[in-house]
Amino acid sequence: MTTYVTTPIYYPNDVPHIGTAYPTLAADVVARWSRLCGKETFFLTGTDEHGKKIENAALKKGILPQQLVDGLSKEFVSVFQRMGISYDRFIRTTDADHVRVVQEILERANNHGDIYKGFYEGRYCVECEAYYAPGDLKDGCCPLHLKPAELLREDCYYFRLSNYRDWLLEYYTTHPGFILPPSRYKEVVSFVSGGLDDLCISRSSFKWGIPIPFDDDHITYVWFDALLNYISGIGFLDEPDTFEKFWSNTTHIIGKDILRFHAVIWPAILKSAGISPPERIFAHGFWLINGQKFGKSLGNSILPDYLIGRYGLDPLRYYVFRECSFGEDGDFSEANLVQRNNSELAKGLGNVVQRVTTMILKYCDGVIPSYHLREPADLELERAARIALSEVSNALENLAFSRALEAIWDYMTCLNTYTNAREPWRLAKQRDTLKLETTLAHLAEGLRFLSTFTAPFMPDTASAIARRIGLRDVPRVGQLRWGSTLAMREVENGSPLFKLLEAHVFDAPPKTDLVSALP
Ligand code: ME8
Ligand code: MG
Repeated sequence: MTTYVTTPIYYPNDVPHIGTAYPTLAADVVARWSRLCGKETFFLTGTDEHGKKIENAALKKGILPQQLVDGLSKEFVSVFQRMGISYDRFIRTTDADHVRVVQEILERANNHGDIYKGFYEGRYCVECEAYYAPGDLKDGCCPLHLKPAELLREDCYYFRLSNYRDWLLEYYTTHPGFILPPSRYKEVVSFVSGGLDDLCISRSSFKWGIPIPFDDDHITYVWFDALLNYISGIGFLDEPDTFEKFWSNTTHIIGKDILRFHAVIWPAILKSAGISPPERIFAHGFWLINGQKFGKSLGNSILPDYLIGRYGLDPLRYYVFRECSFGEDGDFSEANLVQRNNSELAKGLGNVVQRVTTMILKYCDGVIPSYHLREPADLELERAARIALSEVSNALENLAFSRALEAIWDYMTCLNTYTNAREPWRLAKQRDTLKLETTLAHLAEGLRFLSTFTAPFMPDTASAIARRIGLRDVPRVGQLRWGSTLAMREVENGSPLFKLLEAHVFDAPPKTDLVSALP
């Protein structure tokens, strides 16, 4: 089994803010868990570098678009590094192999009779890189960016999307898990049922794009170009074996704003080129501030570096998946982040780890004991670990991140309840060594499971837990079989894993305009 997980590729003229970090972190959680399960994994993210928006920005700065995107994409790479993103490839749509794939697919669609020439006139939002039907505008403005949509008219090539309506509806019916969550599936089916217009897939009024192979005067529409990153990123032309291996197990993680591109246009393009659709598309919700979506175009971004610097990486990674369920919108609140850090991480997870390792230091000279005769409560703790493992696996398989975290925290409660019932400090006083050792061996084993469970969400914390119980690495899922597996290992004496943070009034973080910040 393999796992292939992707994020949207980002327009690099926007700073990587918490909204763009979100699907990237989600894909990172999926990829890390998949690797822990021993599956061969490919995690793709990157930047979407063509289009009028970039050409305009470069023009304004008096540099070439290529120079602009070279600088901007580096910023994404470095922010992703600071967020602990374990991608296998960072694709740029200016990469030579991607350009060749786009041209190949255009040729295929053309040979398939799916492309014809015409012209387009309509209201265009440069921020979305999309035309809007008059009825979808709000007072002539794009409903997402609240900026006037400009009237454009140009020659263009069309893709016969309308021909794919029936095939798409049939495909949705036979693949009910194709679009997730289920509410989004229904939305797409009802949209497509209403009929589809053909799609304008080339532009001739500006230059910054991939040339249409059969007409030099045209460049490829940025969405036709961008979607193909998902196949070029795993070697569609150059590494057919890699492509075959991963493509059948594809999960696209995207925001709900770009669902139609992925659930309607994308499978039609693939079908036209003779390629099967991806396995599933998951559309997540938006982070809001005071009920409004944020992003550079709206001037109210929250930047990952600001949050990491102030609260630490793992508390941030935890917060975004615990605060709201993946698929729903959430209100981003620093106050809630602080509150969750304090009660669920510092006084929760951090405390459990500290308590167990301290007792082993105190009562067993720091050496983890083996267990002896087991009582029902011990067996119950093992059973709870098995249940937690299956719940976490199942939740992560379905991208139900908050459900996975709930299962992990429920398990932590079991460890606390068991500790309080056993009272190791009392067993030590009574010199009931056998029962004391059995108890501490079980608690250490519980931490071993916690290390694996937390690893996809909080990689640094998980490694720290592993080290505290004398392990070099976080255990893989296949190693989670209960036993005295840690016997004779030495616990590490260390300070608590999380700090208590000060609650404070929400500060608007410093605003950065990436394009103008560039040298
Ligand atoms: O649309 N909350 O790129 P983009 C949650 N290049 N997620 C958010 C968010 C918010 N406030 N703001 C952005 C593009 N996102 C195209 C994609 S893919 C072939 C091409 C996330 O830079 C969300 O996942 O505008 C959204 O879909 C994505 O960023 C859009 O990033
Ligand atoms: Mg956008």
